[in-house]
Amino acid sequence: MISRGMLGVLAVCAAGWLAAIVERAEIPLAAQTRPAAAERQQTTKEPASLGLGRPATAAEIAAWDIAVRPDGKGLPPGRGTPADGEPIYAARCASCHGTNGKEGPNDRLVGREPRDGFPFARDPSLIKTIGNYWPYATTIFDYIRRAMPSDAPGSLRDDEVYGLVAYLLFLNELIPSDAAIDATSLPKVVMPARDRFVPDPRGGPRPAQGPAKRQ
Ligand code: HEC
Repeated sequence: MISRGMLGVLAVCAAGWLAAIVERAEIPLAAQTRPAAAERQQTTKEPASLGLGRPATAAEIAAWDIAVRPDGKGLPPGRGTPADGEPIYAARCASCHGTNGKEGPNDRLVGREPRDGFPFARDPSLIKTIGNYWPYATTIFDYIRRAMPSDAPGSLRDDEVYGLVAYLLFLNELIPSDAAIDATSLPKVVMPARDRFVPDPRGGPRPAQGPAKRQ
């Protein structure tokens, strides 16, 4: 059992401990660290450069600076039609995505089903494709240029990417077979899922992560 006297002793100890914290906190951080920093400066002089790496060249920055935005900003010059893309697809893509973009073994690229509604969240067995799920046509260009073919990403010329985008849009029944795709026409292609992704309208702070604690 804890007596009243012992409680008093505990309270005094706690107060002393708190006072110690407050006292230390009152010393500005800079003052606490200043002597150590000064000592360091006297003994070792930091070099202006560590001699590692070099500034990136303009060409290197341009090679990385390839993002294409949903509105088409960043699309390069060039163009392609479905007919241009078809042989490139057969040679560079079909082995992984199937002759018609539906057969795999990797991701299915072609398919519009289900045409009604957007039931993907309710039915995880539905297969997402460019045609039924991607909200922006411009992303197809960005993704293929930076990531595909996955065994040689970055190896396609811009004209080839435009041709592949045109061919995939055609297979998804989104453009006619003679449409030319370029920086002007691509952003105008409206994808079926365009308005399916909306900002969370609930606003306010995000709910806490993890299960709520029981009181
Ligand atoms: C060596 C196999 C391989 C080749 C060749 C290949 N891909 Fe892919 N591709 C993949 C894999 C694997 C993924 C899934 C990548 C992931 O989810 O990170 C993928 C994903 C994609 C996607 C995104 C699918 C989605 O809905 O998420 C597109 C578009 C695509 N590839 C286009 C192409 C095109 C166009 C070519 C030809 C230039 C190509 N791929 C060649 C393996 C390949």
